[in-house]
Amino acid sequence: MADDEYDFFAPQPKPTPRVRHNVFDVVPDAFVGKTLEFTGDHRRVKRPSEAATLAPEEMTPSSEGKSPVQENFQQDVITDVEAEKWEGSAQSRLLIKGGKIVNDDQSIFADIYVEDGVIKQIGNNLVIPGGARTIEAQGKLIIPGGIDTHTHMQLPFMGTCAVDDFYSGTKAALAGGTTMIMDFVLDQKGVPLLEAYDKWRNWADSKVCCDYSLHVAVTYWNDSVANEMEVLTKERGINSFKMFLAYKDVFMLDDSELYNSFKRCKELGAMAMVHAENGHLIAQKSKEMIALGITGPEAHEMCRPEEVEGEAVSRAIAVANQANCPIYIVKVMSKTSAETIADARRKGCVVFGEPIAASLGTDGTHQWNKCWRHAAGHVMGPPLRPDPTTPGYLMDLLANGDLACTGTDNCTFNADQKALGKDDFRKIPNGVNGVEDRMSVIWEKGVHSGKMDPCRFVAVTSTNAAKLFNIYPQKGRIAVGSDADLVIWDPTATRTISAKTHHQAVDFNIFEGMVVHGVPVYVISNGHVVVDEGQLKVTQGQGRFIPNPVHSEAAYGRIASRELARRPQKVDREVYEGPVTEIKANSVEAAPPRHRNENTNIIMGDDMPADFHSRPPTRSGGRNLQDSSFSFSGEQIDDSMPRRQKIRVSNPPGGKTSGLW
Ligand code: URP
Ligand code: ZN
Repeated sequence: MADDEYDFFAPQPKPTPRVRHNVFDVVPDAFVGKTLEFTGDHRRVKRPSEAATLAPEEMTPSSEGKSPVQENFQQDVITDVEAEKWEGSAQSRLLIKGGKIVNDDQSIFADIYVEDGVIKQIGNNLVIPGGARTIEAQGKLIIPGGIDTHTHMQLPFMGTCAVDDFYSGTKAALAGGTTMIMDFVLDQKGVPLLEAYDKWRNWADSKVCCDYSLHVAVTYWNDSVANEMEVLTKERGINSFKMFLAYKDVFMLDDSELYNSFKRCKELGAMAMVHAENGHLIAQKSKEMIALGITGPEAHEMCRPEEVEGEAVSRAIAVANQANCPIYIVKVMSKTSAETIADARRKGCVVFGEPIAASLGTDGTHQWNKCWRHAAGHVMGPPLRPDPTTPGYLMDLLANGDLACTGTDNCTFNADQKALGKDDFRKIPNGVNGVEDRMSVIWEKGVHSGKMDPCRFVAVTSTNAAKLFNIYPQKGRIAVGSDADLVIWDPTATRTISAKTHHQAVDFNIFEGMVVHGVPVYVISNGHVVVDEGQLKVTQGQGRFIPNPVHSEAAYGRIASRELARRPQKVDREVYEGPVTEIKANSVEAAPPRHRNENTNIIMGDDMPADFHSRPPTRSGGRNLQDSSFSFSGEQIDDSMPRRQKIRVSNPPGGKTSGLW
């Protein structure tokens, strides 16, 4: 790695835990009214394997054996309680009465009876066993619990570790009406995928308050990665792999590796996910920013503008289309990216786009804020865009079906962690919040604004994710037999988003001060009432790992027929029996051998099969212009051949001129 490139995994000074940084605080009194007390109560039981796998970089408070955390907020009292004894108890029985059930395809007025974490009955005048708790939902909507398709809880990243871990992150998710998260196994390049998977499972299983599943990142390519992908899909509940076109030298794959990984996904029936930004351009342009003396957070966007995202989206879709593999573009941050996805869908590509709470709810102008901490608080990749019409545009495309589902990329860093990059924007840990506020932000900007109806809201906050990742209708639908992950949603109530009152561990909120309609009054996770009229009651470790089976119909429904329809067809023809030109190749022999085509004697590039350019040189020994010699670099296939001397033409065709020849 060159000296001026940033090493994402180099040890950084360990941030002091949760100190108040008045220097960088942009939210006045952001911490006032939020006190943390570590009780010293060690009720969380560590699984035997967990102790062994807790890495030194795991620096989040609740992993230090000090959980559960009791937190008191102005509005909510949070208590961490023992899991209820569940089977057979009256606590496991719930009747939700009088609400309007909203699924992605219809809304109906009906009651819901839940037992043992599953929806058992839906209808009116239900006959139910005695002892059930009744929740009145008159005037409220009952929606499937949200599914956040994209989180990074406690991710070790850029020398530090995301401050929201699987406990605080899932607790906050539930507080906002999200009952399932999908996180990413994202270890250092070279770590075996199965080892990384085990690490993430150990971190998550003991801490999650809600259900979760995992995507696995592929950051290097070889046969053993291909084999591990098979084990992960067949034995570990994984059906999605994420590839990076950004983070050069760290996570980035080149185009042939990308193609191979997509082909493997296709063979296994898995979804290929892509973080789309051109890592080469970012590396070059970052250096240019530093050379210009622009070291602040605004440089982060300027060295990876929209085009850098758009190019990678377009390339990823093309490569996936060639592999006939469904592709899911994570974090759609720009109009260019969204339009590229929409255009490709119109042309028949199997591509899905995921805008996030941040790109739908705020914009990139904040990176130019005079307050460094505020600006750095908005740094993430791909960046939020300075065009303030971007969020509305992305919401339009989400509403009309061009974009599919929503995540958050929740990856949070406190002020002192962001400050690692106070003198060099390249060292600002990338990431923002969103897991708690996604549902409300989308309701406010999508439904309250009149862009989408409540059914579409359900589609983009849970159903489409459940379908694409193949857990539908267990998740993402209110139906008999589905998991009782339910939100009783008050569409008229409002709340003001603030770091002072949110339930995340991070000290900053990109939606600070936003007033949002749509408040979860009750949240039910696996039949447990975890938000109960303003009271959040969560239990660490109560969530489950949800395996995602391969070959989701939503992603793979047309892949097999496409394969057949697009099968290359050979032309059967008579063998050519006419004369074949003989090639004079004296000058070629002198050239250093790379690949020399035995028939033509033309020297081939490393990436071309020896028989790719089949036309012989011209009689004078020059390049045959019938052959394509196009290359992005401008390199020509015969660059390595010695050049012929200039030919003096005394009688050019068309007669002599006095001009230049
Ligand atoms: O900026 C972000 N999103 N940080 C987390 C890692 C990633 O790129 O997904
Ligand atoms: Zn991410």
